[in-house]
Amino acid sequence: IGQKYTARAHTNIALVKYWGKENEELIIPANSSISLTLDEFYTDTSVIFDSTLQQDMITINSEIVNDEKISKFLDIIRHKSGINLFAKVESINHVPNSAGLASSASAYAALATAGSKAAGLELSDKELSMLARRGSGSATRSIFGGFAAWNKGTDDQTSYGYSIEDPVKMDINMIAIVLNNSPKKISSRLGMKISYETSPFYDSWIKQTNEDFETIQNAITNGDFSTLGQTAELNAMRMHSLTLSANPSYLYLNKDSLLVIEMVKELRDKGIECYYTMDAGPNVKIICQKKNIKAIVDNLSNQFSQDQIKVSGPGEKVKLI
Ligand code: DP6
Repeated sequence: IGQKYTARAHTNIALVKYWGKENEELIIPANSSISLTLDEFYTDTSVIFDSTLQQDMITINSEIVNDEKISKFLDIIRHKSGINLFAKVESINHVPNSAGLASSASAYAALATAGSKAAGLELSDKELSMLARRGSGSATRSIFGGFAAWNKGTDDQTSYGYSIEDPVKMDINMIAIVLNNSPKKISSRLGMKISYETSPFYDSWIKQTNEDFETIQNAITNGDFSTLGQTAELNAMRMHSLTLSANPSYLYLNKDSLLVIEMVKELRDKGIECYYTMDAGPNVKIICQKKNIKAIVDNLSNQFSQDQIKVSGPGEKVKLI
C-alpha cells in the first residue's frame, strides 16, 4: 500500500461476440465468447492508494474525469483487500489519433491489474479476469493475449476468462477502419440490454452462438483461418441483427460501414481472402493474413485516409510495466 503500480492491457476484438447479460450487477453474460487481443491498441493505467486523498482522483489522457463506474470498481478492490483509502488513477489510451477503438476492455483489464496490485492483492490471471469483468464484460478477455475466451459461467466465481492460444500460431491480422470518432449514441451496455429484453431472435442467437463458439475454437486448434474468418463474420452480422430486431430498433453501422463490407466482398471475389467484423459502433475490422495486408490497404486507400486505416497483429497479455 502506498506504492504506485502501472499495468498495460491491450484491447481485444471478439470473434464470437458477447451481447447480453444474465446478471447485470455481476456482469454474467448470456453466452461464452472468443476474442483476439490486438497489439496496436492498449491502455496504460497506474494506481496508488493514498491516505492523503479525500476522494478518488481519476485522469484519462491527463484530463480529470468524474466517473462513478470507476469509483464503484475501486470499491470492489477496496472490499476485497480490506483497505479503506482513496486512489489516484492515471490512465492513458494508446490508440493512434483517438481512433474510437479505445475500449472499456483494455481500460478495465489495466485498472484491475494495477489496482489489485496497488491494494496489496496477489491475483492469478483467472482472478484478475473475474475482477476486470466487474468493470466491463469484454475486459474479462483482455487479461489474456492472443486468442482468449470468456467462459460465461453462472455466478461470480464461474464466469472468467482464459487463454486459448498465446502466442498465436495462425497468421492473422486485423485492419481497423476508423469511420467515426464521436461517442456512440447507444452504449454497448444499453444496446445489449435492449436486444436481450426485446429481440424475438434472442434465443436463436444464443443457440447459434454456442455453435459458433465450437466452430471457432476448433478453427484455432486446426489453424483453419478460412473457417475462423467466415464464422466470425457471420457471428458479427448475427449480433447486429439483434439490434435491428429489437424494440426500439437501432443500428450501429453507418453508410461507410456498408461501403467497407462491400469492399471486402469485392476483394474476396478477386481472390483476396478477408472477412469483416463490427462491434457497437460503425468502425469495421477486417480480418486477414499477412500476405494480403498490402492489397487490402491499397484498396481502402482509394476511399479512406491513411490515419483511418490501422493494421494490427495479435497482442500480449496484461502486464505490469
Ligand atoms: C460488441 O464489454 O463494452 O464489443 O459489459 O456492458 O461493459 P459491458 O459491455 P462491453 O460489450 C462489448 C460488446 C461487443 C462484443 C464483445 O466484445 O464481445
